[in-house]
Amino acid sequence: MGGCVGADLCVCPGVLEGEVGVLPDVGMTEGDRWVTGAELWDWREEALRAAQTAGVEAEELDWLLMAVAEVDRLELRLGGVKLRSHIPIRYALAELEQRWQQRLTERTPVQYLVGETPWRDLLLTVSPAVLIPRPETELIIDLAAASAVGKPLAQGIWVDMGTGSGAIALALAQAFPAARILAVDQSGAALAIARENADRTGLQGRVTFYQGSWFEPLGAYRGQLSALVSNPPYIPSALLPTLQPEVVDHEPAAALDGGDDGLTALRILAAQAPAYLVPGGLWLVETMAGQGAAVQALLEAQGCYSEIEICLDLAGCDRFVRAIYTP
Ligand SMILES: C[S@@+](CC[C@H](N)C(=O)[O-])C[C@H]1O[C@@H](n2cnc3c(N)ncnc32)[C@H](O)[C@@H]1O
Repeated sequence: MGGCVGADLCVCPGVLEGEVGVLPDVGMTEGDRWVTGAELWDWREEALRAAQTAGVEAEELDWLLMAVAEVDRLELRLGGVKLRSHIPIRYALAELEQRWQQRLTERTPVQYLVGETPWRDLLLTVSPAVLIPRPETELIIDLAAASAVGKPLAQGIWVDMGTGSGAIALALAQAFPAARILAVDQSGAALAIARENADRTGLQGRVTFYQGSWFEPLGAYRGQLSALVSNPPYIPSALLPTLQPEVVDHEPAAALDGGDDGLTALRILAAQAPAYLVPGGLWLVETMAGQGAAVQALLEAQGCYSEIEICLDLAGCDRFVRAIYTP
């Protein structure tokens, strides 16, 4: 586990450096609000002081501003923004202030305050009905793509188990244009957000959504799935109260709580996938740092998986487990 554990499920926007470029559309149409640069700068100065007092990273404020106003990081950092006469902005400053206070006092994640988050090259709607998709999860798509090279998986049926905002399912649809993508979640409210994201990304024809518990709604697909990809709930129940308030007080418990040892969902996915995967099918899941060996043991105990491999995330933590169904 070591130093990797603290990084689990950090909700700080992981896009602060570099990736905010995918946020040029701040949802404004003609006739929308605008402020002068001087007004915005003055508000930001005050908001920065409040952030410091509350122990919230100053970068989050600029993330918020870049998400709701037509400003870029450089002009915020260097002060060029205050020279502008007209800055389109989604909210009046009073409403922005109210949202920022919600961030500071209620510890509401900024992604929920603005209702969206960038993830890979997608801009996704989020609400408290769904987990905010994390930067470390982005790598699961690259692992899936690497796993499919030279195999017929790319033309098959893929499932994203516990789709939440739909992030993984939609990115799989992009990565595998010839595949059919299924997305399952127990939460109807989460699926409503996932469907909205399918619409807003233009991928609605590529993903079929199912409500139910894990494989339960997929009876028709027994023996037919080319791949199972999942970021299931994996936090041991006793650890939940120790997570940052942004996570435990605002994100859905069903997206986090992995039961006593954190492995409840992973156990189900390991045990039930063989009935649904084609021989040679891919099993690829995200885990909490430190769970890799336990998940490997779960798969070995099934006796029908080969090439079981623990994969690291960019921080060097064991984060994913990949295996091939080999009956
Ligand atoms: C950690 S979140 C992952 C969300 C999204 N895939 C992501 O990576 O951002 C886990 C998801 O699993 C869903 N879930 C929890 N229990 C489930 C169950 N029994 N069957 C189906 N989905 C479930 C939750 O509603 C939640 O959306």
